[in-house]
Amino acid sequence: MNWHTTDLPELLRQIQHALHTAPAAPTNPLRTAAFITASDSHPAARTVVLRRADADTRQLVFYTDARSAKLHELEQHPAVAWLFYHPGEQVQIRASGTAARQPADELARAAWAATPLPNRLNYCTPLPPGTPVDNPDAGQPVAWRHREPTPEETETGWANFAVVVTTLMRLEWLLLRPQGARRARFDWNGTAWSAQWLVP
Ligand SMILES: Cc1cc2nc3c(=O)[nH]c(=O)nc-3n(C[C@H](O)[C@H](O)[C@H](O)COP(=O)(O)O)c2cc1C
Repeated sequence: MNWHTTDLPELLRQIQHALHTAPAAPTNPLRTAAFITASDSHPAARTVVLRRADADTRQLVFYTDARSAKLHELEQHPAVAWLFYHPGEQVQIRASGTAARQPADELARAAWAATPLPNRLNYCTPLPPGTPVDNPDAGQPVAWRHREPTPEETETGWANFAVVVTTLMRLEWLLLRPQGARRARFDWNGTAWSAQWLVP
């Protein structure tokens, strides 16, 4: 990445490119991010895997269990934030916008079909995520505690598989450098991104 450009449109392209390429790179720190929701009583942050980032549609995508708290929160409060940090490059990217569950359409079905078996298990818990239980292994179906389920058996998870799409309204970038940090903000004005340098 050329984080040292002083051209704001070029910097925006670098940010978009960094996010776009991260999902396919398992060791890229930008592939995991904090996803933050609001609720009536408190904000909530959790780690999610960035599955897709598209500059043209301004979308960031992750997958989740439809029964999870974050989905209920964003149904009530669609304004959300993402927080990315790349320690090697000393770059922070803050992103915010509105999020919604995508319909269970062909794209969601294709995403589910491509989900590896270990990941599918997360969607197969009989009880919803976050349910209090006495046994730490109570999440998985009893029959699967001593053998791996078949791919067909994990199809039960499809009912709980949700694709969440955030449409971005703001991006903020911070680069820590020995010679002085740099910070910039990009706001979507309805038709284009406006760009602004900020005091770090
Ligand atoms: C490395 C890592 C990646 C994760 N990726 C996801 C993810 O892509 N989607 C997801 O729903 N939860 C993911 N989780 C679990 C969440 O951080 C969180 O614990 C879970 O989704 C419940 O959140 P909620 O109760 O706020 O809805 C991940 C956790 C870790 C540690």
